[in-house]
Amino acid sequence: MKKRKRIAILTGGGDCPGINAVIRAVTKKAIIEYDIEVIGVKDGYEGLIENRYRKLEYNDVSNILTLGGTILGTTKKANPYHYAIGKGDRLEFRDLSRVVIKNIKKLKLSSLVCIGGDGTLGIAYQLFKDEIPIVGVPKTIDNDLKGTDITFGFDSAVSIATEGIDRVHTTAESHHRIMIVEVMGHHSGWIALYSGVAGGADIILIPEIPYDINRIAEVIKRREKKGKRFSIVVVSEGARPKGGKVVIQRIVEESTDPVRLGGIGFALGEKIEEFTEFDTRTVVMGHLQRGGSPTPFDRVLATHLGTRAVDMIIKKEFGYMVGVKGNSLVKVPLKIVAQGPKKVPLIHPLIKSARSLGTCFGD
Ligand code: F6P
Repeated sequence: MKKRKRIAILTGGGDCPGINAVIRAVTKKAIIEYDIEVIGVKDGYEGLIENRYRKLEYNDVSNILTLGGTILGTTKKANPYHYAIGKGDRLEFRDLSRVVIKNIKKLKLSSLVCIGGDGTLGIAYQLFKDEIPIVGVPKTIDNDLKGTDITFGFDSAVSIATEGIDRVHTTAESHHRIMIVEVMGHHSGWIALYSGVAGGADIILIPEIPYDINRIAEVIKRREKKGKRFSIVVVSEGARPKGGKVVIQRIVEESTDPVRLGGIGFALGEKIEEFTEFDTRTVVMGHLQRGGSPTPFDRVLATHLGTRAVDMIIKKEFGYMVGVKGNSLVKVPLKIVAQGPKKVPLIHPLIKSARSLGTCFGD
């Protein structure tokens, strides 16, 4: 009897809406069209180090399309090439990549599907160079992956952030206040730009455009003169003043990406109160942006990406991520994805459109 092909799926980095939709798409298509056996790796690369897996049958992935998070679990702490052992003063790093490669070989996989952001796919690229047949799927609410126009999770995050911005409008207007909404996005301003435009923010601050507090105060005062005794500011967690630094919330040394941003909203609030007469409040959207059910757009995108990943496995197109270019799915070398974050270009048409409506970017 011919042996069934076997693939494994791994989810790494921060969770985000739509991961389960990809797991479902890959698993269903692999089983229905090719009778491939599918294994789920638990908790990202940690599961490959510790041999923790579960079999994924058709029924295991049925009814998870709308479910947030990842049924496989994830972690940001298990880079096999730089694996943290111990904590604090006892923290040390070891290269466990040989263990992972041996474990993958034992599984006799025809491919490993890695669903992740730049950290997870960067590690996937290293594994590919170590001859592991990898296919990547772009996941992150931040939309900051090179080689793809969009990542799944982004639309869901933008929609939650926009709802937050919509909701602070009433307090801003009733109390004649400045309301600041701090959104995620890491070192890229995609979430702030899109949710800021969708929520009609008066001021949008993104990491790509360092801001000048004098300019922000000027815009707030000018609005007041026009009878608008409130303003809405959307600030990306990675934004910073001209000549200043990003606000770091904490360092997680054992993480694949140790710097956790956060807190710029409060720092900015104090400055706005100092530079204007306005009472200011800050709301941090935080992990609300990563939680809950994916939007219909993300469900569709995740399904599309997942099914395409299976096509790539069948064609033996390894070392690539499925990407989106315009209306088409394309294969993007993992090498490109591993090059670092995709920033918002300063000439992005949405920045131009927003500016033409009078939106200030702090410059
Ligand atoms: O990459 C997704 C993201 O939510 C970023 O926007 C944010 O900076 C970071 O992860 C937060 O990480 P954690 O969940 O580890 O606090």
